[in-house]
Amino acid sequence: MPLPIRPNVRKMAAYSPGKPIAEVQRKFGLEEVVKLASNENPLGPSPLAMQAIREAAQSVHLYPDADASDLTAKLAERFGFPAERIVVGNGSDELIALLGHVLLSEESDEVLCGDPTFLCYDLAALLAGCRLVKVPLDDKGVHDLPAMASRLTERTRIVFLPNPCNPTGTIVDKSDLNAFLRDLPETALLVLDEAYFEFAQDVREVPDGREIALERDNVAALRTFSKAYGLAGVRCGYGFFSAELADALLRAKQPFNVNVLAQVAGLAALDDEDHLQRTLANNREGLERIAAALRRLGSEPFVSHANFVYADLKRPAGLLVQTLMEQGVIVRSGAPFGQPNAIRVTVGTPKELDRFEEALSQCAAEAAR
Ligand SMILES: Cc1ncc(COP(=O)(O)O)c(C=O)c1O
Repeated sequence: MPLPIRPNVRKMAAYSPGKPIAEVQRKFGLEEVVKLASNENPLGPSPLAMQAIREAAQSVHLYPDADASDLTAKLAERFGFPAERIVVGNGSDELIALLGHVLLSEESDEVLCGDPTFLCYDLAALLAGCRLVKVPLDDKGVHDLPAMASRLTERTRIVFLPNPCNPTGTIVDKSDLNAFLRDLPETALLVLDEAYFEFAQDVREVPDGREIALERDNVAALRTFSKAYGLAGVRCGYGFFSAELADALLRAKQPFNVNVLAQVAGLAALDDEDHLQRTLANNREGLERIAAALRRLGSEPFVSHANFVYADLKRPAGLLVQTLMEQGVIVRSGAPFGQPNAIRVTVGTPKELDRFEEALSQCAAEAAR
């Protein structure tokens, strides 16, 4: 007799991450490989965070502070948000999963999101065995909030809205979001997933999820140290919640969910304004270069406010992704997002983007032959 693994788990596809550099080096016998696939920070970690990690390494025989109290207190002070309503997680991925654990219980519960969207929302819904309602993005790659509002029901439990959006990089603006909020039932939680917030924060129309979460119990905002702060490898994210939801999440989480190194790295990174500003400046230039390169392929990339650019090539992108990889440039295919004609390219350093542009021209020249 096979073990009684839940049928909805059997149906789930495993998360498919961008290919690791070492795997591509091995497979194609390459020395230098550039990874522009997982929206990581090309400048590396914040130097202040690295120093803090080195110092904390001697304490890793001890369990971490279960409440991440210092980091929570610093976030509360920085963002003017009550500490008891902030929860730190093992990456914001963990907070997404935890929201599923505390809010989804019935098969008839519904999770509403865009299409394409960040795959962890699917995982949270599928793991709970509930209904996933997906609403296509509009033709500019933006969440179609009126269409999403029309799919809200009394069974809607969570609405996931990545802003900026992964995979398209687009943002919803304040007025569209306010209209959506007027239709949001009190029994549904809107999760503004702001993993890329820092890259967009100077855009006038971008809503600040923290401000909305401060006012409304059924809105939460998630942020992460993985992107602008360059700490994806240590896993540290945080969220702003209502007091009741924060309390539920703290009870449902693993006791020592945020490791020793992640806690000190997050604390130090918050003080590293220089690293953050260098990251944002590099990003602005990189976005323009990638968009221009993709335009040369004849595509019209979506307007990105994140650290990556997404384009629908209007033809299967698999061969291009593969050929770039053989030349040592890893980009993300749209296939895992259900968009086999699309590619997503993360901003790299100027040198990495030189490699990307060269490899792309070579692919275009080969295709023309
Ligand atoms: C929209 C979005 N949310 C959350 C995450 C996860 O971030 P973390 O590394 O904090 O788990 C990502 C990572 O790619 C993302 O794109």
